[in-house]
Amino acid sequence: MGARVTVTDLSEFIDLMRHNVDSNVKVIQQRQGVCHVLELVWGVSLPTLTLPTLTSDCPKPSLILLADCIYYEESLEPLVKTMVSVSSQDTLIICCHEHRTTDNKPRLQKQFFEEVSKHFRVTRIPTILQHPVYSSDDIHIHIFRLHDQPPS
Ligand SMILES: C[S@@+](CC[C@H](N)C(=O)[O-])C[C@H]1O[C@@H](n2cnc3c(N)ncnc32)[C@H](O)[C@@H]1O
Repeated sequence: MGARVTVTDLSEFIDLMRHNVDSNVKVIQQRQGVCHVLELVWGVSLPTLTLPTLTSDCPKPSLILLADCIYYEESLEPLVKTMVSVSSQDTLIICCHEHRTTDNKPRLQKQFFEEVSKHFRVTRIPTILQHPVYSSDDIHIHIFRLHDQPPS
């Protein structure tokens, strides 16, 4: 059974994402999946944001994929805000990024993980546990889960 997926980006990439989804529509339908395209600016439109693929039975995503999204300073806090806003205790976030050593990138990556750690438990997936072909020492994969909420 296919997944119910929402892909998001800034407005200037909506047409390109639609084109990609349309090009794959047969495969998505064959697997009984659904893929919606949504403009989402990190940190904006929260908390009124609604993801079209969610239902009252499943009000928050079970899985969020965050690929190569740690690259400029102004976006870090808004990005983490959005991750918190769309997550529940049951949400698993898989984050991958390339280990970059140029310019301010090491500081940005450190800053991002400091911010993420305030809200999420962070687990690094070692390369040895990744796919032997589709893995690389400079591509890091982490999973994030919201910290347990204190009982009310
Ligand atoms: C380096 S690309 C990675 C794209 C894709 N995930 C991949 O791995 O190929 C980073 C993406 O983040 C998006 N992005 C940057 N700033 C954003 C923001 N403030 N709100 C939402 N998306 C943003 C960019 O438009 C771009 O598509």
